Amino acid sequence: YEPIDPVRFIGNRSTGKMGFDLALEAASRGAQVVLVTGPTPLAISHPLVRIIRVETAAQMHDACHSVFATVDVAIAAAAVADYRPKVAFDKKIKKGEDAFVLELEKTPDVLASLGQVKTHQFLVGFALETDNEIENACAKIRKKNLDLIVLNSLRDEGAGFGHPTNKITFINKEFEVTPMPLKAKEEVARDILDKIFAL
Ligand code: CTP
Repeated sequence: YEPIDPVRFIGNRSTGKMGFDLALEAASRGAQVVLVTGPTPLAISHPLVRIIRVETAAQMHDACHSVFATVDVAIAAAAVADYRPKVAFDKKIKKGEDAFVLELEKTPDVLASLGQVKTHQFLVGFALETDNEIENACAKIRKKNLDLIVLNSLRDEGAGFGHPTNKITFINKEFEVTPMPLKAKEEVARDILDKIFAL
């Protein structure tokens, strides 16, 4: 959530379910997990999961960097805002003119910034694409210094935001492409962890 004023924000339709499923799946395999999440009604209660709740891209950036040095694997499943209002008003904006222009600036790219400081960590990103999917995802592997990317195409029925299911394609850093069938998100979380452990 990127604030516009005290009562309004720029956000998106992501529920965070994929991230929560990944955290639970990793913990159930014995991993110690730090789950950094944006605003969501989802909750998790597992002794191996520590949850850090944030609102903005900048807060997610800081929370991720505060733990990154201590982790072996980082998975970036959040739908982070790419832009935020340049100025967040401290009072509610009153209705005025017929048109209203909001100036936006780029947020930090959390995943790319982790890729820049990566040492031993296995870094996994997601890519949400509507066209030129494979090509765009491969560009993200290079640009963000990833070991694996999980591609979601919005062209696939049942994939992406708001669905209990997802259809993913793995691309590793050698650019090998592995399409997977449509599955429940919990099963997709299992496949992603299997893939990470297999590489
Ligand atoms: N991501 C991030 N910080 C951002 C934007 C994206 O960490 N400010 C991460 C996402 O969590 C995901 C990956 O980057 O793992 C790719 O996100 P995606 O929205 O597909 O791509 P973008 O890099 O934002 O590029 P574009 O929107 O132009 O496709």
